[in-house]
Amino acid sequence: MTDQPSPSSQSFLTALRTLRQSRRFHDRAIPREDLHEILEVARWTGSSKNTQPWHLVVVEDRAVNAELAGYGAFTGFLDGVAASIVITLDHDGRSQAYDEGRISERIMLAAAELGIGSGTAWFSSTEARQRVRDLLGIPGDRHPWSAVGLGYTDTTRSQAAPSSGRKPLAEIVSWGHYQA
Ligand SMILES: Cc1cc2nc3c(=O)[nH]c(=O)nc-3n(C[C@H](O)[C@H](O)[C@H](O)COP(=O)(O)O)c2cc1C
Repeated sequence: MTDQPSPSSQSFLTALRTLRQSRRFHDRAIPREDLHEILEVARWTGSSKNTQPWHLVVVEDRAVNAELAGYGAFTGFLDGVAASIVITLDHDGRSQAYDEGRISERIMLAAAELGIGSGTAWFSSTEARQRVRDLLGIPGDRHPWSAVGLGYTDTTRSQAAPSSGRKPLAEIVSWGHYQA
């Protein structure tokens, strides 16, 4: 007899498969206890050699998030989030970039479990990152590459993705050896 996946593991897999970026939110604030829950999950993210290169700045002030919205080509949706978590890293290398991706995804998944939508916002230029530092008092030797915006997704409004859907597995996976 083959083991069947349990209903709870099925719903976890479905949650992983259906997680999408949110960009439009209701005005409702996120309870502090939920933000703490998300941060507690984030804290346990694995990192290269367990260096935990991050320091997270939680921004609940809507005016400050509206200001952050102006600091990137695609960061506009931060004007309207209930909170954002700005991820700052202690170095600017490949392993920190990897670690940043992991902690972002954990934040997004924990938020989703609490019914909270989320989206990555990328502070893409050196100037933008300096403005983020200046606004939030982040030391010059830390790198604020991105933030995760959080809120209750307004499903009546378009989430305006640049593209949607995914490539089929056959296009992105080979078995045994690489086949284009
Ligand atoms: C490194 C990275 C940077 C991103 N930067 C932004 C951004 O600045 N603004 C934005 O709206 N979405 C940003 N996204 C989200 C992507 O646009 C999104 O994951 C992709 O379009 C797939 O969307 P979906 O998951 O909703 O299907 C970023 C994602 C990644 C991984």
